[in-house]
Amino acid sequence: MSEISQAQPDYNYKVVRQFTIMTIVWGIIGMGLGVFIAAQLFAPALNFDTPWLTFSRLRPLHTNAVIFAFGGCALFATSYYIVQRTSQVRLFSDKLAAFTFWGWQAVIVLAVITLPLGLTSTKEYAELEWPIDILIALVWIAYIINFFGTLVIRKVSHIYVANWFLGAFMLTVAVLHIGNSMAVPISLTKSYSLYAGAVDAMMQWWYGHNAVGFFLTAGFLGMMYYFVPKQAGRPVYSYRLSIVHFWALISLYIWAGPHHLHYTALPDWTQSLGMVMSIILFVPSWGGMINGIMTLSGAWHKLRTDPVLRFLIVSLSFYGMSTFEGPMMAIKTVNALSHYTDWTIGHVHSGALGWVAMVSIGSIY
Ligand code: HEM
Ligand code: HEM
Repeated sequence: MSEISQAQPDYNYKVVRQFTIMTIVWGIIGMGLGVFIAAQLFAPALNFDTPWLTFSRLRPLHTNAVIFAFGGCALFATSYYIVQRTSQVRLFSDKLAAFTFWGWQAVIVLAVITLPLGLTSTKEYAELEWPIDILIALVWIAYIINFFGTLVIRKVSHIYVANWFLGAFMLTVAVLHIGNSMAVPISLTKSYSLYAGAVDAMMQWWYGHNAVGFFLTAGFLGMMYYFVPKQAGRPVYSYRLSIVHFWALISLYIWAGPHHLHYTALPDWTQSLGMVMSIILFVPSWGGMINGIMTLSGAWHKLRTDPVLRFLIVSLSFYGMSTFEGPMMAIKTVNALSHYTDWTIGHVHSGALGWVAMVSIGSIY
């Protein structure tokens, strides 16, 4: 591999710009919907007796819009940007990049149509019906080929740590999505899960928790590892810590799903295993938070004048708080209190709005 050349390669910024604009558009729509359904909780008459305006149909539209449309577009935009800049090479394929952009927007538009119509698989965060699931899988595979293809043709021998997190996020989400979406279609708009009973629940929360771990965490840690050092003008605090907490994080998250199913028909030992793994997960989570915050040492004064750094530091603080709270809520006796209360919703938004949205806003700026 040759040294980094001085002249900047001709990067594909078009797809980065497209995804960036749609991040803002879907962010406004998704969070606007959040405000609307929050108002409905206070004043239910706001559904105007119209089936497609009811809380039950708009709530999954909110979650899909903020996680997959807003968060997803932010991840596409920043990962395409980061992988080109850190590999010193243009994206592997412009055609695949365009396909991922238009394909992902098509998925979102189909969600906006089908969810208010009440067409749903009923699996949380995986509500979309089987034809849309197939489209998601195709787009995702194209994304993986393009990202890893770019790494293969990179001009620098080193693979920067942000790309490790982004790569893990992409591969794991592919496995989760394809695994959990296995279903028997009975019509174009209705299918039944291939799994039954407690096994179905276990699969669903293996997917659900790792959607948190890989979509909402590993991907955004990739974003953090590029934009925090960049904006602070400092190297990552500890490169060694970033590698250690990477391996610890990805090997622990996979086991924690059963904390969503405490006191259910799931075998008791799996619940306890999920609880223990969730408590240990606190350590690598804080490894990432500490590494991000400590990268600012020597640059704290920049917070006075730099709004971008403010977004990034607030996001890291929320990441730390939500990954302390999560392991606490995973303890069975605590969960007996928190489950079925707004505590869960508070925890969700500490992570999703505090961490995910703030780091995205900082990076997009
Ligand atoms: C203006 C910002 C937001 C508002 C007002 C808002 C509002 C809401 C409301 C009212 C609910 C339903 C709560 C309930 O059922 O009791 C909800 C659920 C949810 N929201 Fe948001 N939200 C916002 C931003 C976000 C963002 C940025 C994300 C993710 C990136 C997010 C992810 C979620 C998730 C995952 C749930 C489901 C929680 C669960 O099932 O436990 N929200 N939101
Ligand atoms: C060490 C890290 C974490 C652990 C151990 C953890 C643990 C938990 C626990 C125990 C629950 C409640 C389950 C229930 O009673 O049903 C929960 C819910 C949830 N958490 Fe976390 N959490 C962590 C980090 C995060 C982060 C960073 C985010 C977002 C970016 C997040 C998003 C969510 C969501 C969306 C739910 C609601 C799931 C549902 O729809 O029921 N979590 N988490």
